[in-house]
Amino acid sequence: MEKHTLPEAFLGRMKKLLGNGYGDFLASYGEQARKGIRANLLKTDREELLEKLPEDFKADTIPWCPEGIYIDNDARPGKNPYYYTGLYYPQEPSAMLPAQALAPEPDELILDLCAAPGGKSTQIASLTRGSGTLVSNELVKSRSGILASNIERMGIPNAVILNEFPERLVPAFYEKFDRILVDAPCSGEGMFRKDPDVTLEWTPGRPAACAARQKNILETVDRLLKPGGTLVYSTCTFAPEENEEISEFLVRTGRYRAEPLSFEGVYAPPSTETEQSPDIHVYPHLSEGEGHYVARFTKTAGSGDRPSSGGKKKTKSAYRKASKRDLADYEAFRSAFMPDKVYENLYLSGDRLWAFPDHIDGAVLSGLKVLRPGLELGTFKKGRFEPSHALAMALRREDVLSSTELDEDELWSYLKGEEIRPSEAVPNGWTLMLYDGYPAGFGKASAGTIKNKYPKGLRIYKK
Ligand SMILES: C[S@@+](CC[C@H](N)C(=O)[O-])C[C@H]1O[C@@H](n2cnc3c(N)ncnc32)[C@H](O)[C@@H]1O
Repeated sequence: MEKHTLPEAFLGRMKKLLGNGYGDFLASYGEQARKGIRANLLKTDREELLEKLPEDFKADTIPWCPEGIYIDNDARPGKNPYYYTGLYYPQEPSAMLPAQALAPEPDELILDLCAAPGGKSTQIASLTRGSGTLVSNELVKSRSGILASNIERMGIPNAVILNEFPERLVPAFYEKFDRILVDAPCSGEGMFRKDPDVTLEWTPGRPAACAARQKNILETVDRLLKPGGTLVYSTCTFAPEENEEISEFLVRTGRYRAEPLSFEGVYAPPSTETEQSPDIHVYPHLSEGEGHYVARFTKTAGSGDRPSSGGKKKTKSAYRKASKRDLADYEAFRSAFMPDKVYENLYLSGDRLWAFPDHIDGAVLSGLKVLRPGLELGTFKKGRFEPSHALAMALRREDVLSSTELDEDELWSYLKGEEIRPSEAVPNGWTLMLYDGYPAGFGKASAGTIKNKYPKGLRIYKK
């Protein structure tokens, strides 16, 4: 990517902000941004992953994220077979901080409000090992598809993916969430080194315009977070209007207490009272990561702004609870293919079958723009059930009675959509296609060949 010059007005602001540190800050733009990957705890752990990856993937530990690994800058994490089996997520190292700060617990109802492309959503699901419910929302429709495909590739079973304006969530989720992450749309100053094109969108007025939008978003979030719940606010900018001033805005409401944060390798200005900082900054001259800001709060009182009972319009739900009768073909598939795997909270939309996460039912979702209401199990066809790619990615080898192990060449053929001729006999019917024991998708065996069921939209055409 072409290197653009840093805007003069931005440099002036940074000089004022950083004082003596400005020279080192500027010098850091002569160095390359570091790349990172994060192990997906739904499928593996850091140690196991390190054993599998080539040498250029083993650069170093990211101090603030136990699952994070710095990789060499010429390593290509999107071109490794384990990428396609969801064993890791390529992520800018600083971007691993907000989900660590959120510290999600099992069984909670969690909202990632500004979620695409899904780095933090996939990290939250990894930290909770897929328990509880993750509502992953992305306002911009064109960005929500990539969010859905990342959630699917990582094998996340408990995510609802929405494409909504934040305020449209209030009637359904008024003060319901245990934790909310607001990884806010911002002026992106922290990304200037990694992605110089971001400088072209920056103007001196941008931080103030972003701050107004951020306050708007947080006013809505106040109506979504339960009293006692945790809010993490993060940006990838240095602008105080979008960072400290937003944190102060929250505390001034009288309903938010800033909580101390500290992570190894990250700068946290000590506050005079506690010697601990309520917020942390990643500066490229002080940490090995791109510019970021993270603050954590506890909500101490209710918002007192409950929507009237007329707030949630009565819209007929697109989802219907599945009855025993509806499920006959699914049960036939399940008992033949994955007899010990039981999904609960099953709903139908048309001919598609879904397993909803714990906190979700058809009524909650009515009237909302839903991309995925949970884990798609598959589709009812005439007299049979066809399992979905999302189900394949959420399964483990031990869950199924038929699987086919692919070597690396066969995996690339599979990902291109080619028919597979297995060296060992596979019983006719559905088979989970594995690479090194991890699912890459489904196939359907018949008379010595395996028909490729890797989704057409995901197929790769070049290695
Ligand atoms: C910093 S990015 C999120 C990155 C994401 N959390 C991740 O880790 O992959 C901010 C997102 O907020 C979305 N957004 C823009 N305007 C918004 C608004 N008014 N309310 C909520 N989200 C908005 C953007 O489309 C963008 O995807």
